[in-house]
Parts: sequence; C-alpha cells; structure tokens
Amino acid sequence: MTTPELDDHRRPTYEDIHVMIGNAAKKIVEEFKPDLMVAIGGGGFFPARVLRTFLKRRDEKTGKQRNLPIQAIGLSLYEQVDGMSEEMIGTQVVRTQWLEFGAPKASGAGDEVAARYGKDSGGLVGNNVLIVDEVDDSRTTLHYAYNELLKDVRATLDSIPADVRADLPPTRFAIFVVQNKLGPKRAELPIYNSPADEKIVDGVADGVYYYAGETTPPVWIDYPWEMQDITEHNRLSALAKARNQQAN
Ligand code: G4P
Ligand code: MG
Repeated sequence: MTTPELDDHRRPTYEDIHVMIGNAAKKIVEEFKPDLMVAIGGGGFFPARVLRTFLKRRDEKTGKQRNLPIQAIGLSLYEQVDGMSEEMIGTQVVRTQWLEFGAPKASGAGDEVAARYGKDSGGLVGNNVLIVDEVDDSRTTLHYAYNELLKDVRATLDSIPADVRADLPPTRFAIFVVQNKLGPKRAELPIYNSPADEKIVDGVADGVYYYAGETTPPVWIDYPWEMQDITEHNRLSALAKARNQQAN
C-alpha cells in the first residue's frame, strides 16, 4: 500500500493522550487538589475518565483512596463571527445538558447546604471544581462553561444565610484541556499566573487555574475517539513522529 502524503493534522494516539494527562495530573493534584470534575461533553468525557485514574483522593472519614466524581454538562457551539461581544459569545453556546441541583456530593463540603436548603449547584459549592474538555480552540465553550457554573455557585451562595456561608470552604475553579491551541481566542478567562494570585471574594475564587496537556500550533487535531479506522490513525501518527525525528 502506498503511504498517503501526511497533511498538517496533529494525530495524538490514545497513548499519547493518556501520557499527557498523567503528566498534567501531577501539577493539578499538587496545586489545585480537585474535589470533582465537570466534563464538557462529548470531547471532555474521555479525558475526564482518564484523568480520574490519576486523581484519587483520600477520604477523610475512611482513609481510603476514592475516585473523584465526574459530573457532565453538554454544550454545543453555533457558528461564530469575529468581533463578538461578551453577551454575544454567550448566545452562541447551547446547553444540551446541565448539572442537577441536589446532585450527589463530592467531598461533603456542600452537604449541609444541600440538606438544609435543597440546592447546592450540583455539588459545586465549597469544592474545588475541575472543568475538563479535550481542546481549547476559540475558548468560547470554556468561557461559557466557567461563567455559567460560577453564576450557579454565586446564586446558591446568595440564597443561603450568611452564617452558613461563612462556614463553607471557598469554591474554586480550574480548567484542564488536553490541548490548548495557540492562536486568537474569542473569549477571555481570568487565568491565574500563579497560585499566589488567588483571592477569595465572597466565598469564591476570583479567577481560574488553567492546565493543558500540551500547547499546540493552530492546526486541526484528529482525536482517536473520532476515528472510524483507529489503526490508520495510529499508523499516520507514527509516520508523522518518524518524520519529525528525522527532521530534528
Ligand atoms: P473551544 O470552545 O475550546 O474554543 O473550542 P471551540 O468551541 O472553538 O470548538 C468548537 C468545536 O470544535 C468543539 O466541538 C471542539 O471540540 C471542536 N474543535 C476545535 N478545534 C478542534 C480540533 O483541532 N480538532 C477537533 N477534532 N475538534 C476541534 P464540540 O461542538 O464541543 O463537539 P464535541 O466533540 O465536544 O461533542
Ligand atoms: Mg466539546
């Protein structure tokens, strides 16, 4: 069989992605200590499940290692045009699935809020929430997800008495993507440069931690889970790696 000419697509294999996620997890655990993940479907599902393998946390009560809960949200993006305002960005994303209020708890921090007030923004309040997706391209989806989850948390905090609020741990957010694509972003996130930047304002962190498995040039990425022919995907991936090695 002849070798088709390689295009400029990037072709990470399942193994490449697994390794990148494992490496990124070390910093996430040390720096952010997530209590739960919110995976943005469909691209965020596979990365979130792999990441969970590296993010076990100790249960305070039993001392046993516990898996982090993965919550799911579904977001779909409409076609966009340049020069959109903040509000317009919001209208380009459609929710196909969202967190349930009163969903199962992650670390127990929000349990009291849920028990007494019947809502806790899907278990986010008082927790370290890690939002997971496969790619940060235009940043539109991540911008929407972060801001909407933040709104839910603030609304819940506003609705509970000040003394209960004061006893809760802060709610903090982080983002993990397998790939952050270089290039212009259509939306901005208040990303911390270092943990020292973090400030808690009214019970919520004033910015977001940001982690990427790798930063890539703005070329199209073929994800293994999108491929009907995974063998061919792996073959082309190996071919590109061999060419790159030759070139270096
Ligand atoms: P962003 O929010 O992270 O900036 O990405 P953006 O909205 O621009 O992406 C819109 C859709 O395009 C997303 O799919 C995203 O996964 C996909 N996309 C962007 N860049 C790439 C790429 O290089 N390769 C591939 N394969 N997809 C890319 P979606 O609507 O969220 O669909 P789903 O797969 O998550 O269900
Ligand atoms: Mg997606």
